Amino acid sequence: MTTQDLRHHNRTVIVTGGSSGIGRGVAIRFAEEGANIIIADIRESPKQGNRYETDMTTPTADVINNSTPGSAKFVETDVSDSESVASMIETTIESYSRLDVVVNNAGIQIVGDSQTITIEQWQRSLEIDLNGYFYTAKYAIPHIVEQNGQIINIGSVRGFEGGGGPPYAAAKGGVVNLTRDLAMELGDESVRVNCINPGYIETPLQDIVTEDDFEESQAQTLLSRFGTPRDVANVAVFLASEEAGFITGANIPVDGGWLAHSRV
Ligand SMILES: NC(=O)c1ccc[n+]([C@@H]2O[C@H](COP(=O)([O-])OP(=O)(O)OC[C@H]3O[C@@H](n4cnc5c(N)ncnc54)[C@H](O)[C@@H]3O)[C@@H](O)[C@H]2O)c1
Repeated sequence: MTTQDLRHHNRTVIVTGGSSGIGRGVAIRFAEEGANIIIADIRESPKQGNRYETDMTTPTADVINNSTPGSAKFVETDVSDSESVASMIETTIESYSRLDVVVNNAGIQIVGDSQTITIEQWQRSLEIDLNGYFYTAKYAIPHIVEQNGQIINIGSVRGFEGGGGPPYAAAKGGVVNLTRDLAMELGDESVRVNCINPGYIETPLQDIVTEDDFEESQAQTLLSRFGTPRDVANVAVFLASEEAGFITGANIPVDGGWLAHSRV
């Protein structure tokens, strides 16, 4: 295979939350296709979960630079801070001279209900899980338009149903519709905007899951396994490619059948 056969050779891709979990998988998968990656995360070292990714120690950028045809750079970024996001986009252009794809992925999930979750937790969650997606899109779009590029949001099955706690469900519902609105805005520019909605994916985020939740998630997932970051990454690489050239404004489940049925 020559570099010309790689689907994202020399394209620049920003992955927010790219140090761990799904974002890490997405970043590595794009680099395998020859892309130059900006890992935009608050931390450089990967999170180590209790269930999954228990022994991750190598930063994503090191994995990419040592073992893929792509390249990567870590840029410390807090997506809930619009100035931090604007500065990360500037660094991206200084580093690679162009920006083709943004994968909005950085997220947190705070468990609880309307009575246990504090106002501060509600605000923090929305700041990262929804505002952060808008800030990154806002500052990236002028550059993405120049390349007729793509925006990929990582939503959740919780964008289509209750569950996951009030701020998480509200933010993910917002991401679903933000995707549609940005697709409307950018269609004339040939910029495609899509959202991947994962079900249960094996990442450190799942440390919040109780034994009961775990069993419910197994029952809700039609396939006999949970998803991996690579399952999500494969779809992201496809959505950003020419093969997906007529897909925009779409919300695509990558959920092992989670949304195909009700629990009763
Ligand atoms: N794991 C799942 O089952 C699942 C299911 C549906 C949706 N998702 C979504 O996928 C995305 C990634 O989740 P994950 O499971 O990989 O989580 P994770 O906790 O494993 O990794 C999240 C990454 O985001 C980074 N991050 C957190 N806050 C940030 C901030 N303010 N600025 C920049 N980076 C920040 C963390 O440092 C971490 O590296 C999230 O949006 C999540 O809601 C996950």
